[in-house]
Amino acid sequence: MAAYSLGWCEPGGAPVSTPAGGKGLRQVLAVLGTETAGAPRGAGVTAAVAVELVHTFSLLHDDIMDGDPTRRGRPTVWKAYGTGPAVLAGDALFALAVETLAAAPGADVPSAVRHLSTALNDLVRGQADDLLFESRPWAGPESVRPDEYRAMAEHKTGALLGCATALGAVLAGAPRETVAALDRAGRHLGVAFQVIDDLLGIWGDPAVTGKPVHADLLRGKKTFPVLAALGAPGARPLARLLDSADPLDAADARRAAALIEDIGGRGAATAEARRHIATVGACLDSVPSAARTTRTTDDLRALLDHLVHREM
Ligand code: IPE
Ligand code: IPE
Ligand code: MG
Ligand code: MG
Repeated sequence: MAAYSLGWCEPGGAPVSTPAGGKGLRQVLAVLGTETAGAPRGAGVTAAVAVELVHTFSLLHDDIMDGDPTRRGRPTVWKAYGTGPAVLAGDALFALAVETLAAAPGADVPSAVRHLSTALNDLVRGQADDLLFESRPWAGPESVRPDEYRAMAEHKTGALLGCATALGAVLAGAPRETVAALDRAGRHLGVAFQVIDDLLGIWGDPAVTGKPVHADLLRGKKTFPVLAALGAPGARPLARLLDSADPLDAADARRAAALIEDIGGRGAATAEARRHIATVGACLDSVPSAARTTRTTDDLRALLDHLVHREM
């Protein structure tokens, strides 16, 4: 199941002709963050492995919570193997992540383990809020405010991206200010990344994203494009549709997607992502630059630019 979730085999273990893994964003951040801090590359590789294992574990459990049938272009682990086995495979990946970090040769392994645990605690809190928001209304005094969304996204997605960016530096015993700047950069990157993930969940192509489209709308997930649209003039028909007593069907979701785009929710989401990406740049600029190479900085800038325009 672990090998399947990493895209290395078919259900049951037969080898795949084309690997079907994820984008590898967190590994790239771990290596580039470590280079930015001037820490040894080996620390970045250890951080990359540990964070990717935690990420994969969180996806296995997330797909159960969200009831999603596809990821990375294939059936989700719970669909292929059952819910109980998928929970256990996630737990095993988590244990392997901790083991990887605890056995690493870094200068400050205890701080690295603590940093990863703190990120995971934040992720759990964000995931809990994401689920709680599903049962809150779209409009009225009980509705989810954009700031509540931002806090939720920083926790469920930003915490692990912050951890990825900073963990190699922590492991190598880098100064506190360096670690804080890298972690903050990753957290803002995480909010931008989640906002674009939300956008792709409404207007993305499932053949490219490998994930379902409109599933968030059907579940009442409080995603950023919708919250932004509901705050715009002319949002009343959208609010009526989303808060109607009957559950949405596929045609309602298509209509909602068109209304959200018409009143500016898609554009507002892109603008929100850009704002957070600009803050990422400022955080990275604040890292003492003695050891930073031009290539590392260029690679990070290229990555940030790509993330706003990504289609998967
Ligand atoms: C998906 O993350 C979960 C979110 C935090 C949005 P990714 O989009 O990075 O997933 P993979 O690893 O590329 O499949
Ligand atoms: C996933 O969030 C975040 C975690 C796994 C902690 P989402 O539920 O929004 O991500 P996708 O769209 O399923 O990848
Ligand atoms: Mg999900
Ligand atoms: Mg989720």
